[in-house]
Amino acid sequence: MRVVSGIQPTGKPHLGNYLGAIRNYVRLQDEAHEAGGSCLIFLADLHAISLPHDPAELSANTREMVATLVACGVDPAKAVLFNQAQVPQHAELQWLLNGTARMGWLNRMTQWKDKAGKNREGASIALFTYPVLQAADVLLYQATHVPVGEDQKQHLELARDIAQKFNNDFCAEDAPVFTLPDPIIPPDAARIMSLRDGTAKMSKSDPSDMSRINLTDDADAIMQKIRKAKTDPEPLPSDEAGLEGRPEAANLVGIYAVLAETDVAGVLRDFGGEGFGKFKPALGELLVEKLAPINDRFNALRGDRDALDAILRDGAAKARALGTPTLGAAYAALGLVRG
Ligand code: TRP
Repeated sequence: MRVVSGIQPTGKPHLGNYLGAIRNYVRLQDEAHEAGGSCLIFLADLHAISLPHDPAELSANTREMVATLVACGVDPAKAVLFNQAQVPQHAELQWLLNGTARMGWLNRMTQWKDKAGKNREGASIALFTYPVLQAADVLLYQATHVPVGEDQKQHLELARDIAQKFNNDFCAEDAPVFTLPDPIIPPDAARIMSLRDGTAKMSKSDPSDMSRINLTDDADAIMQKIRKAKTDPEPLPSDEAGLEGRPEAANLVGIYAVLAETDVAGVLRDFGGEGFGKFKPALGELLVEKLAPINDRFNALRGDRDALDAILRDGAAKARALGTPTLGAAYAALGLVRG
């Protein structure tokens, strides 16, 4: 079992990132560790330059995201934690895979179509070839399991197509260079919605900070955001069907269920018939209880630049060692002479 996943170093991680992605990393890191496998988690800083960006912000966000991941339980002793920029093999393998990836495949990527919008001529080439770098990210390490959100499934399928075509075109049948990776999509329960609109994903780009719980929020901020969260006037139903058509209520109950490690039915058994006047303070307290230790660890780490840089440096050294054999095999398969 080899788990590989990347996360973009964009600012201010929130509850949605934690429950959707980061918590899943921690679970997989532990599973892989126990099974004698390995887990690589990296900051996709090379991907971040595919859109206009501020260099100072990118460095700050990269370190902040390391602090967040570690605060949330990613353990540099169990997982290889690094940033792409310190492992040149990612960019090298991308170039080799550019010979295999087809224009037509990339033209079909919905993220490319969404992000380039009407201005394809003005989009960066990095934005277009973004999925090839993502393929290199996982193929470099012979990933078997790749935890991603639903929106990244198409990129993973592309990585499989690239791996398959490369193996077909350049390798003997019994000696493929690349392993075909499988995506792991976290269950629906982890879809956390905005506190102001139960139909929109909780997102760092929402202009209202009241729409999300940041992992950096203190207890007062959390209690206030939950108190002000949008709801409807009805009491909570006693079964799941009663949440139909009540997206805000469903979201708050869903958050409670994930944090309490139960399910929606379990929460409604306890709170069915109660109004939000009773449910919201209980949810707020649960959030504070679960997030306070993360918040404390994050605050202790974020200012320690040397410690954060040391984590990335150590992780990168391990990643370079792990990626070297596959990169070498890819060069050789293509007939590239390296002395
Ligand atoms: N594109 C991913 C995202 O935006 C981040 C990413 C980059 C990634 N490389 C990866 C995820 C490799 C999984 C595997 O979420």
